[in-house]
Amino acid sequence: MTEASQPLLFFDTGVGGLSVFAKAREFLPQAPVIYAADYAGIPYGEKSEMEVATRVCALLGRLSERYRPRLAVIACNTASVIALAHVRAVLGIPIVGTVPAIKPASLATKTGVFGLLGTKATIRQPYVDRLEAEFAQGMTMLRHAAPELVAPAEAKMRGEVPDPAAFRSAMAGLLYQPQGDQIDTVVLGCTHFPLVETELAQAARDLGHVREIRFVDGAEGIAHRIVHLTEGQAWPEKPAPGLFVTTGASEQILAYRPALAEYGLTEFATL
Ligand code: DGL
Repeated sequence: MTEASQPLLFFDTGVGGLSVFAKAREFLPQAPVIYAADYAGIPYGEKSEMEVATRVCALLGRLSERYRPRLAVIACNTASVIALAHVRAVLGIPIVGTVPAIKPASLATKTGVFGLLGTKATIRQPYVDRLEAEFAQGMTMLRHAAPELVAPAEAKMRGEVPDPAAFRSAMAGLLYQPQGDQIDTVVLGCTHFPLVETELAQAARDLGHVREIRFVDGAEGIAHRIVHLTEGQAWPEKPAPGLFVTTGASEQILAYRPALAEYGLTEFATL
């Protein structure tokens, strides 16, 4: 039986998962929430499948024991496409993953050509091949690994102004591929990327791309899924303040505090 005080747990390597977290909060403002960032392990996009899978399972196991969440959201595409099945096999609570929004992109594109930006580890996964085969039949999905976007997204949340070169290089990697000029939709297949969507749109214009690009991510679908999975459960009258947990040093997150407060994360702990 779920108790009203049991939180929803969100997990990412850094602040990327806030793009998912924010949507879920909008739908379930009464939910107690914990946001965990694996700053000791960021970036996952450069790690092997084995490293990501073992790390994510171990950390979610520890977080579940400590905080007894009613549900966990892996708010990281890299961790989800690699470790979702493993985590589901070991934890006895519902686990919601974040996988590249290929289906919504295939429904949105008018030209039939859309892009996928993700980390290196994400875009090489068979999970992504399966999504492409299932939803993008007869269309062209151009992939590009853009690990250089993770650091600027983190910097922006610390209140810094990121260098625009990273946004141009990421968008050029997609738009300059054969048929890239026909791209009208781009899947933001890493949860850090929606945090810099405006910058990516500007970069596309700076590169002379004439079509308006629609950026899609999985946040809204995930929020609906959480609502569905928690239907009928009790929530507290007044939820406890949101808790931010880091696997890294607590000083490292001082600069993020003003941005985190805007997301309702005002309590801090280390794992
Ligand atoms: N936010 C993570 C994702 O959605 C990746 C960032 C990283 O490389 O750690 O894939």
